[in-house]
Formats: sequence, structure tokens, C-alpha cells
Amino acid sequence: MKITIVGAGNVGATAAQIIVDRALANDVVLLDVVEGVPQGKALDIYQSAAIQTSDTKIHGTNTYEPTANSDIAVITAGSPRKPGMSRDDLIAINADIIITATKEIVKYSPNCIIIVVSNPLDAMTYAAFVNSHFPRNRVIGMSGVLDTARFKTFICMELNVSIENINALVLGGHGDSMVPLVRYTTVSGVPITDLLPKSRVDALIDRTRHGGAEIVKHLKTGSAYYAPAASIVQMIDSIVNNRHRIMACCVYLQGEYGHSDICLGVPVKIGAQGMEEIVPIKLTEDERAAFDKSADDVRSMIKKLQ
Ligand code: LAC
Repeated sequence: MKITIVGAGNVGATAAQIIVDRALANDVVLLDVVEGVPQGKALDIYQSAAIQTSDTKIHGTNTYEPTANSDIAVITAGSPRKPGMSRDDLIAINADIIITATKEIVKYSPNCIIIVVSNPLDAMTYAAFVNSHFPRNRVIGMSGVLDTARFKTFICMELNVSIENINALVLGGHGDSMVPLVRYTTVSGVPITDLLPKSRVDALIDRTRHGGAEIVKHLKTGSAYYAPAASIVQMIDSIVNNRHRIMACCVYLQGEYGHSDICLGVPVKIGAQGMEEIVPIKLTEDERAAFDKSADDVRSMIKKLQ
């Protein structure tokens, strides 16, 4: 197993570190355009493996040759948000970066699975999918895993229960119109609506929708990276260990959930082949309307790409 991470910023380097800690690959390649940064961070992480007793090797590079024959390539490159910016404000800056990275990855690793992390996530996943010419099971955006983790964390804080008790699902685009599905949110099997009044559930949903912006506001100079990196690794773990875990990810739709020619967050099964299946779940009228609204927002982003 060889994993390439494009972008040695906070998200990319943190994901690399977790992969090495957990020995999820034989080789990790950390790539960045900035000279010295991927080399320095990779060497530092490599030395941490001596303490974690992980045999994963990690190298830093500024070119794509060393990424050849990767099984998984993660694109984290691009600019993060600053306070006051929405994820969508990044499209002009990040589109070219993601398209270039995709073409280089495909050239050196034509059989890999691409995980897209850069924002605006759904439009960047679409750009990577179209430019890769890969089958859709091999281009997956990381969004719902992070949004679901945030929703679960807020429920956990509210109810003071173990995170293990909580099941939740957040669909739609990775933006303010994302769709946390209350009906599928349970605490040890008990519907969340039996445990909390509607006003509190609504407040937690609202906090989830703005979960990324809340962190940007604190950090001032960038966006979240610990939870995004952990989310990437959850997807990688399901691929590497062929777990067939069901999680919300951004994939190219061909009629599923009533949408085509768009990348959007839906429940998918992730295993050794990447996205193995889009899991169909029934939406109520309200949920469907919220999902369609989120799809509209993503579609207008994709139009800007073209
Ligand atoms: C966030 C950014 C990384 O949600 O999209 O924090």
C-alpha cells in the first residue's frame, strides 16, 4: 500500500502523521510545491515513527515522479479559508491547483483511488472526477465524514454520553446548506428527537452547518485540520482494510437521489475498490427539499468552474 498526499499544509501533514502512526501503508509520499516543506515535515514524521514503532516509510517531494504507483492519492492542496470567507470563495484560487494535481496523479498512478479534500469540496471533487477520466468509484470527496463527526461531537457535548453511542448522517454539499438527517440520528438506538427538544436539535444542526466557520473564526489564519485529517484517515482505513463501512462521502451521481452530473454527499459503502455502492435511503419531503437546495448551491459552483 502506497499513499500519496498532495499538499503538505496542516491537513495533509496531519493526515500523513496519523497514517504513519497507525501504519496504514508501507509508503507515504508527501508532496508540496513549496521547497523543503514536504521534505522537512516527512523527515520529522519519519522520526516520530521510531517512537510509535511504525514501519511505514515517508518521504517528502516537490515532484510527482516519486508518487508513481500509489494506491491512494489524497488532494489537500490549495488555499484554506480566512475569517469571513465561505468555502465557495476559494474556487478561483483552488480550481487550477486541483486540476493540475489530478492530471499529475493520473499520469503516475493510473489505477489509484483519489480522495479530494480541497474546497469548495463538491466542485473540486467534480473537477477531479472530470479531469481524471477515472470511473466514479475511484474519485471520492471527503465532506460528510467531517460534517457527521461535528454533528456527533455537538450531540455528545449536549447529552454527555459516549461518542460510541451516537449514530448520525449528514448529506448534501459541504457548505452552509448541508443536510444533517435528524431521523437517522440516534443515541444508542434512541432517536435524538426523544432525548432533546426540537429547539436544541435545531441549534446543534445550525452549529454543525457552520462548524468549519466556527473554527476559522478562532484560528484567524486558516481552517480546521485535526478533524479533517482524521476524516481522511477513516476513509483510507475503510479502503486499506476493505471494511465496507458506510459513510457520507461526495461522489458523482448518475440519477441517484434524483440528481445527475454533479458531485454531492450521499451515503456510500467504502472498500478496497473505493466507492462500492451508493446506499439508497428514503428522504421525507422536507429532507428532499433541503437536499435539492444543497444540490442547487453545488451546481452553481460547478457552473463557475466551466
Ligand atoms: C472545514 C473545512 C476544511 O469544514 O472545509 O473545516
